[in-house]
Amino acid sequence: MALMWKALLPVLGICLAHYLYSARDAFTPAMLQGKRVIVTGSSMGIGEQMAYRLAEMGAHVVVTSRSQEALQKVTSRCLELGAASAHYLVGSMEDKAFTESFVARASELLGGLDMLVLNHITSCPMSLFRGDMNMVRRVMEVNFLSYVTLTAAAEPLLSRSNGSIVVVSSLAGKVPTPLVAPYSASKFALDGFFSSLRREYSMTKVNVSVTLCVLGLIDTNTAMRAVEGIMSMPSAPKEECALEILRAGALRQEEMYYGASTWMSPLLMNPGRKLLEVLLSDYFNANLFVSKKTDP
Ligand SMILES: NC(=O)c1ccc[n+]([C@@H]2O[C@H](COP(=O)([O-])OP(=O)(O)OC[C@H]3O[C@@H](n4cnc5c(N)ncnc54)[C@H](OP(=O)(O)O)[C@@H]3O)[C@@H](O)[C@H]2O)c1
Ligand SMILES: *[C@@H]1O[C@H](CO)[C@@H](O)[C@H](O)[C@H]1NC(C)=O
Ligand SMILES: *[C@@H]1O[C@H](CO)[C@@H](O)[C@H](O)[C@H]1NC(C)=O
Repeated sequence: MALMWKALLPVLGICLAHYLYSARDAFTPAMLQGKRVIVTGSSMGIGEQMAYRLAEMGAHVVVTSRSQEALQKVTSRCLELGAASAHYLVGSMEDKAFTESFVARASELLGGLDMLVLNHITSCPMSLFRGDMNMVRRVMEVNFLSYVTLTAAAEPLLSRSNGSIVVVSSLAGKVPTPLVAPYSASKFALDGFFSSLRREYSMTKVNVSVTLCVLGLIDTNTAMRAVEGIMSMPSAPKEECALEILRAGALRQEEMYYGASTWMSPLLMNPGRKLLEVLLSDYFNANLFVSKKTDP
């Protein structure tokens, strides 16, 4: 019982604080000025917009995807917009050799790393699941496993810079959704992995923030094409979405919700889960959580 109250009070406090201040005012673009940032899946859509917002704020950016031509254009535009530096690396997150070497190559271009924005996804048609295992494997590989590979490589760098991991997810990563079962599974997996990793960082005093971004329908070409005739739901603008993701990352928020109706946010926040997360941590042998912190 004492244990419960010990956990309940801070959790209720956090939820209340979250409701009262959405911390919107605390953000200034100067927070990202000069920061060294990787944005994956940045040849189009929300990733491209994040690269432009970062450029406007004077950050160093590395963009990546499979299409060289598009990345070249994004990089030039970033330099026009005021990026401290802008580079691209071409490759597929299905390619293990590329994924495993990517962070080292990117951080060399950046001279370190402050923020890793994981955003890329493989295309996945909206349809009933009919047993296409190749598709499930590809979706898990690109949307989930590559995120873990990139994070493992980035962790020592981020730990040194008090950096941030920003994971772009979806309502379908919090709420079961028909017609996108493999995609939904990959996004739920991100929540399980990265929310657990956040707990580990907290328990081992690693000062790396983990921000999970839960997005509703955003007006990217890919999404608009995918939902046509399948779903009618209002869509939100990708430009603003990109800025909100970066804002949440810079503020080191645990989760952000964008493009869903406001009334959905308190439901998505799921205070029951948050409470259990803190409560259950107390059952672990504290000696296991030796500091993972690397020396600067
Ligand atoms: N738009 C929405 O309605 C919506 C809603 C909820 C969540 N989200 C999330 O927001 C993020 C961005 O979505 P978006 O709509 O902006 O997507 P998008 O416009 O389709 O962009 C996807 C990006 O990923 C890259 N990509 C695709 N396959 C890849 C691979 N195998 N290896 C490396 N890169 C690859 C694409 O470039 P190349 O093709 O050149 O490789 C592109 O840059 C995703 O995580 C998505 O789940 C979006
Ligand atoms: C990281 O944060 C700690 C505590 O606030 C601070 O002492 C240290 O200088 C920071 N390191 C960097 C590289 O910002
Ligand atoms: C963690 O890093 C952030 C960003 O540099 C800093 O503001 C904060 O004080 C650090 N916290 C701790 C506990 O070191």
